[in-house]
Amino acid sequence: MATRIFLLFISVISNSTCINGSNGYSSWSPDGIKDLWCPDSSNCLSEASTIETDHCCACNALPEWEMLNHFPQYLNVEIINVKGSSRLLQNTLPTNNRIHFIHTNGILSMFPENLCSFSIVYIDVSWNQFSSVGNISCLTELDTLIMKSNKLTFISNQTFVGLTKLRIVDFSYNLIYKMDYNIFGSIHILTYNFEGNYLKKLDVSNVLIFNKTICGGSFAYNKRPIEMTNIGQSFLGEITGSICGDSDFSNVSIDKHPIFAVSEKIDQRTLNKYAPCGKGKYSGLAYDCDCRVGEFFHLQFYEFSRVYSKEYSESYCRSPSILQTSVSRIFILIKHYVIL
Ligand SMILES: *[C@@H]1O[C@H](CO)[C@@H](O)[C@H](O)[C@H]1NC(C)=O
Ligand SMILES: *[C@@H]1O[C@H](CO)[C@@H](O)[C@H](O)[C@H]1NC(C)=O
Ligand SMILES: *[C@@H]1O[C@H](CO)[C@@H](O)[C@H](O)[C@H]1NC(C)=O
Ligand SMILES: *[C@@H]1O[C@H](CO)[C@@H](O)[C@H](O)[C@H]1NC(C)=O
Repeated sequence: MATRIFLLFISVISNSTCINGSNGYSSWSPDGIKDLWCPDSSNCLSEASTIETDHCCACNALPEWEMLNHFPQYLNVEIINVKGSSRLLQNTLPTNNRIHFIHTNGILSMFPENLCSFSIVYIDVSWNQFSSVGNISCLTELDTLIMKSNKLTFISNQTFVGLTKLRIVDFSYNLIYKMDYNIFGSIHILTYNFEGNYLKKLDVSNVLIFNKTICGGSFAYNKRPIEMTNIGQSFLGEITGSICGDSDFSNVSIDKHPIFAVSEKIDQRTLNKYAPCGKGKYSGLAYDCDCRVGEFFHLQFYEFSRVYSKEYSESYCRSPSILQTSVSRIFILIKHYVIL
């Protein structure tokens, strides 16, 4: 909201030239492919290091068509049959490449058959009947894909192949129980949302993304206990590169804290070197605790609370039973360790 007000304000005082970096935005690309604009108002440039500036811009930067004087064009959809087949219609000839396709609260079960005829940047098909994403590799300009509250069950690591401009995906509140290893491996995503699904297993490659500037994402409120895997056997310290992304695991039950899944080979006290930024939100997270939890207590308080949990007093051990209490606070946990 604040950003929009800010944009409006800018457009009133300067109805003139295009964005050239002096109108409150700086040109920013995380990968040399996406052309984004990082708002000066976000103060990203005053972050302490380049990696933190990039992380900040990854969360705040906008594509040109979300900025002033750039009006998107909307496509209409014609439903062909009750099973949710459809075609896209265009009222006027496209005069720019900022085409949006928004069709929410409908009966679509697959994308319109002529989807590939349009150079679409933004799709929102929330509250429809999709049970799979289908092959969307022709959408090479796609920036944002929102498929909230459909009936998706599986995300393949082929789903995003070729979508090099893709910046934001939202698959929250579907029925996703399975996800391939490394689903974003071939692209550079900035923000993802898998809240409220039914994941049984989750590979760490889909959570902590090495070497790529990322804002982060959410697996909060997944409805089943999740088993964390590390199929690629990527461990901090063993491979070069760092991670910096926010992750939200609020109210999730998981066998292994995501940070532990990659930090076996390092001394937890040096975590800051490998994960210099990014915040975890783990309120209500339950996971299996072991001795390594104890090692976390040696981190500086700030680092501890940043990595371990922003609202750490509310996450708890689901095992071993000695540490298991429904409202146990981390301080109780510390006492247990001291007693043990
Ligand atoms: C998706 O469709 C493209 C053609 O548009 C094809 O080249 C590609 O192999 C398909 N991908 C999958 C996973 O089927
Ligand atoms: C895609 O996922 C499959 C099954 O999880 C895995 O075998 C394969 O290596 C993955 N491919 C990539 C490119 O990550
Ligand atoms: C990260 O980048 C470094 C340097 O370019 C490279 O050596 C390393 O293999 C990369 N790590 C991963 C997991 O891609
Ligand atoms: C989160 O979990 C707590 C305790 O398990 C529960 O009381 C609360 O209702 C949950 N919140 C949501 C939004 O599911």
